Amino acid sequence: MLSIFLSILIWLGAIIILFAFVFVLLLVFGGLGSRNPFGQVPRSILRDIESIALIDSKSNVYNIGSGDGRVLFYLSRKIPTAKYFGIENNPGFLIFSKVKSFFINKFLKRKISMDYSSFDQIDLSTATHIITYLYPETMDTMLTRFENNLKPGTKLISISFKFTLREPKKEFNLRRGKYKLARKIYLYEF
Ligand SMILES: C[S@@+](CC[C@H](N)C(=O)[O-])C[C@H]1O[C@@H](n2cnc3c(N)ncnc32)[C@H](O)[C@@H]1O
Repeated sequence: MLSIFLSILIWLGAIIILFAFVFVLLLVFGGLGSRNPFGQVPRSILRDIESIALIDSKSNVYNIGSGDGRVLFYLSRKIPTAKYFGIENNPGFLIFSKVKSFFINKFLKRKISMDYSSFDQIDLSTATHIITYLYPETMDTMLTRFENNLKPGTKLISISFKFTLREPKKEFNLRRGKYKLARKIYLYEF
């Protein structure tokens, strides 16, 4: 009896390790070749994002390059009635955030969707807010699309990086240490 129990435990352990291994491979290889920061927004600035974005119950909030989904999960805790859309092309991050959003939506009645897509393929015509943490070169490639397709008044909250050819409406200095990431947030309005 004990030996059966032990072998079940060993098999379960092996399966969990295999899943963890595949997950890490997806995360690492999914990020290779990307010309954008791999890291996630520091949790300590999530409150700043919330206070700058001013989301309300009618908002449609897009996080372009949503990573592990922390920005949208945090905001959905604060404003549960808004709609949240994460766009991500790293399969590892996507699996993680999709599973998490499934349970949050089901048990906490939120409206978060996480989708596998690339920046250039998404329809942003219903967006009220867009949140990005992407290098300026990527931001610049999206500027014309934003200017042509976003509803007037759509806000773009960009962490750390700004467009080369468009000035932000407002710039927020988060007064973080000199060597910390994400020290500024730029607010644009289209
Ligand atoms: C710096 S991370 C930001 C993660 C998250 N938004 C956060 O703030 O914590 C940028 C994310 O963009 C994703 N990404 C890079 N290129 C992409 C593309 N073409 N389409 C969709 N997502 C992309 C990366 O996989 C990465 O997760």
